[in-house]
Amino acid sequence: MDQIIQDNVEKNEFLVNRKVFTDKEILARERAEVFNKCWLFIGHETEISEVGDYKRKKVGGRNLLFVHSQDGEIRALFNTCPHRGALVCRENEGNSRVFRCFYHAWSFKNDGELVGMPGKDGFPDDFNDEGTKNMKAVNRLENYRGFMFVNFDDNAISLDEYLGDAKEYIDLVVDQSEYGLEALGGVQEYSVRANWKLIAENSVDLYHGMPTHKTYFDIKQAQDPDLKRVKLEGKGVDLGNGHAVMEYVAPWGRPIAQWTPIWNDDLKRDMENIKARLVERFGEERADRIANYNRNIVIFPNLVINDIMAVTARTFYPTSPGYMEVSGYSLAPKGEQESHRIARNDNFLEFLGPGGFATPDDNEALELCQEAYNNNQEVQWNDISKGMLRGEGNQLATDELQMRSFWRQYNARIQESLAKEKEVVQK
Ligand code: FES
Ligand code: FE
Repeated sequence: MDQIIQDNVEKNEFLVNRKVFTDKEILARERAEVFNKCWLFIGHETEISEVGDYKRKKVGGRNLLFVHSQDGEIRALFNTCPHRGALVCRENEGNSRVFRCFYHAWSFKNDGELVGMPGKDGFPDDFNDEGTKNMKAVNRLENYRGFMFVNFDDNAISLDEYLGDAKEYIDLVVDQSEYGLEALGGVQEYSVRANWKLIAENSVDLYHGMPTHKTYFDIKQAQDPDLKRVKLEGKGVDLGNGHAVMEYVAPWGRPIAQWTPIWNDDLKRDMENIKARLVERFGEERADRIANYNRNIVIFPNLVINDIMAVTARTFYPTSPGYMEVSGYSLAPKGEQESHRIARNDNFLEFLGPGGFATPDDNEALELCQEAYNNNQEVQWNDISKGMLRGEGNQLATDELQMRSFWRQYNARIQESLAKEKEVVQK
């Protein structure tokens, strides 16, 4: 296979081979080396907070059932019948003690145990003594501060180790609430005619903010008479293992706890109170970061946590090299006051929803890239060099360090598998 990246530190040049966005073999390798081996976000624990709650999830190409079992454990069951394979649970979400397969009516407790089947006399007494006819659970399911991930590789390192330095930034998101975050109902699902890695890049790309989302910033400027110039300033940080963040100030309102002139005076007072409480809990500096700084975090490979004018979690999976399915929803402090929740939801829909100011603009940009990658043969490389010359630790949020972190990890994983294959062939 051709080179995936050219990482030339001396020349301050970083290139990505455009083939990674269009090649079917690369997609197959991604499934094996990325989606089958990395920790993948399945959901937030509050999505299934009551015993019996369940939600269907598609993660890493699998149909899973994210379920709060009767014994209090949260499980990720493979949503396939041990009998002949049918999808057992067909509802998207609900609350149930048992799941019954549509096809021959085998039934299972919500921890996966087989508890009933018609025509039992046709099977030996010890038929399920080994438990092999229970719905199978994903062996690795781990939780970091409410964010739950699965891993299909039983030998993977722990989630804690995998997240590494990204934990600090997840903490900043979660710490904005004294009672933790909760997932709000409803999910936004849409598809984009573009490669899945383009949205990973886009989610930590502040460089595109002003040009791509100009209409939105023009409106923000019109809403705030004191705002002379829109500034998006901050830093980009490589968090290791392919994770990255951009942390920056921006002119929109954050219900924790940055007021904006389109909000009323009650909200102004509330934001000041929230900020004061944050200062009590964490001191001035951390409180300022939590309240007044925005964070877009990419957890490699495909979880984006946006802590901007709203808090969102978004995942995206390829169905082909040029097509992805995206799913995202909003999170908020548990028990948040209604007026704050309304401001938050307005923010979320205004900018981040599929009908908001940002998402359609972003998707347009990604589809333009994908469309023009049919010129790959002649024009082969993307340039992601911005800010390299500033050196380690000095990267601006509008630089492209965040994307380089993603690509270095991506390249390492794919190259490692190629090297192993070569070894086997040589032996
Ligand atoms: Fe489920 Fe037969 S496939 S009971
Ligand atoms: Fe954008």
